[in-house]
Amino acid sequence: MLYDTIGRGYRTRRQPDARIGAQIHEALGDSRRILNVGAGAGSYEPADRNVLAVEPSQVMVAQRPGGAAPAVRAVADALPFDDDSFDAAMASLTIHHWPDWEAGLTEVRRVTRDRIVLFTFDPDYRRFWLYDYFPGVVALDNGRMPTLERLANVLGEIEVATVEIPADCTDGFQGAYWKRPEAYLDADVRASISTFPALEDPQPGLDALASDLASGAWQERYGDVMSLDAVDLGYRIVTATPG
Ligand SMILES: C[S@@+](CC[C@H](N)C(=O)[O-])C[C@H]1O[C@@H](n2cnc3c(N)ncnc32)[C@H](O)[C@@H]1O
Repeated sequence: MLYDTIGRGYRTRRQPDARIGAQIHEALGDSRRILNVGAGAGSYEPADRNVLAVEPSQVMVAQRPGGAAPAVRAVADALPFDDDSFDAAMASLTIHHWPDWEAGLTEVRRVTRDRIVLFTFDPDYRRFWLYDYFPGVVALDNGRMPTLERLANVLGEIEVATVEIPADCTDGFQGAYWKRPEAYLDADVRASISTFPALEDPQPGLDALASDLASGAWQERYGDVMSLDAVDLGYRIVTATPG
């Protein structure tokens, strides 16, 4: 289980971002009984609803804060629940880790009555300077991130909302540091982003980024982003109401 290794220290570096949380909670509507699949340390679980978490990694479950929703050790494609057990299901930055995301979402559909909310990433939207340094990230994500079209094939009609990533995003996922480029040079930061440990050889990209930051080449090429407060990097909230 990958997250038994890379999940150590997750909660410290991956603090849920309140602005993203507000968008996810809005997408959940007034659903009361909610399943959070691939729940990890509990990010984005609404505290005012009846939530049950599903998470396969013990290392992640152990990082759930006191008072967090109860967690069941299970995987998405074999959910130990009856049909229609939940009003809604949520899955945040997790479906690309499921060995068979289609089977997982089919299971999520089976156990959910009204609404499915995914916080995910559109692999067809590629506008981020980081890819110039680490093209392997694109190849890796393309192999595991379902396109919106493929999600709709499984979920039926979907609504898609853009999640702009704030410059001071507290959740240290891949795009979080778009305005803090030196952060990607920090091994601890990279350790909490699943693509980096999976890259064959990140060193040439790291060397190039360090050198461009030192010489001013990065600022010259990408410095326009420094005037922005939030950007669209391809993160999306996908909502399905299969009924
Ligand atoms: C990037 S973390 C996201 C955790 C949390 N949802 C969040 O937003 O912080 C991905 C999570 O997916 C979980 N995961 C991996 N494979 C899974 C599977 N087959 N079914 C359910 N969850 C899985 C991992 O253990 C990990 O906790």
